[in-house]
Amino acid sequence: MSVATKTVTAPPSFSRVGVLWASTVGKKALMALTGILLSLFVLGHLLGNLQLYFGRDSTGAYLINKYAEFLHHNKPLLYGTRTVLLVAVLIHVIAAFQLQLGKGAARPVEYHQKESVNSTVSSRYMFWTGVVIFFFVIYHLLQLTLGVVNVPGFREGDVFHNVTVGLRTGVAPLFYVVGMIGLGLHLRHGLYSTFQSLGAGNPAVSQWALKWAAVVATVIALVNLSFPLAVLAGLVKG
Ligand code: HEM
Repeated sequence: MSVATKTVTAPPSFSRVGVLWASTVGKKALMALTGILLSLFVLGHLLGNLQLYFGRDSTGAYLINKYAEFLHHNKPLLYGTRTVLLVAVLIHVIAAFQLQLGKGAARPVEYHQKESVNSTVSSRYMFWTGVVIFFFVIYHLLQLTLGVVNVPGFREGDVFHNVTVGLRTGVAPLFYVVGMIGLGLHLRHGLYSTFQSLGAGNPAVSQWALKWAAVVATVIALVNLSFPLAVLAGLVKG
């Protein structure tokens, strides 16, 4: 009599990130983590850009140009930040697409009536406000980092000139206004979800989170919007 033997194949070994990536909950956690990193960049970038309002130092150099020069000369800081940002953006965007596609696959037939209970405009349009930010950043890099669109006479290293000329040229004001509305809505829901997960399930924390996420996101969007508006109004000019 022959005994049938069954070959048992070892389960694939996943790294911790791989395990997180394999589940919907894990992907959402990775999106939250990368979202926090990207929000910190947005905040730091905004604080740096505030120097547009402080003009020149005693030597006559624009403060924002000196700040940019410091960043560009500090190569480990510059390339370290760029690498972390790029990896964070890739994880955030790929996870967003996979989760969005997964939603469609889980429900191939559309709801007859879309649910709106407990969902705000920003939560329902999270994916689409993310797409708006993505295209804003592509335009922004082409404009102010590479100088290939909408900055007549782009000057390498002269950030003050590039911003004061660029933000009022061609379609730039439209990109900045639409981009910052998208950023405000996206941050509002992203921050709310993050605060909420930190105090999971506590209704008092949830109320607090809703209020503070709205305040922080609105302030960030409005301060960013103030730059193109100040340039258009001629309040900041070279
Ligand atoms: C009106 C608001 C903003 C202004 C005036 C502004 C200004 C600038 C300027 C002048 C640069 C080039 C810096 C340099 O070459 O040294 C830059 C780079 C950049 N900005 Fe903005 N920015 C704004 C909003 C944003 C927002 C909201 C985001 C992200 C959502 C963003 C993401 C970036 C990125 C990723 C870079 C490239 C950084 C690098 O070179 O490594 N910016 N920005």
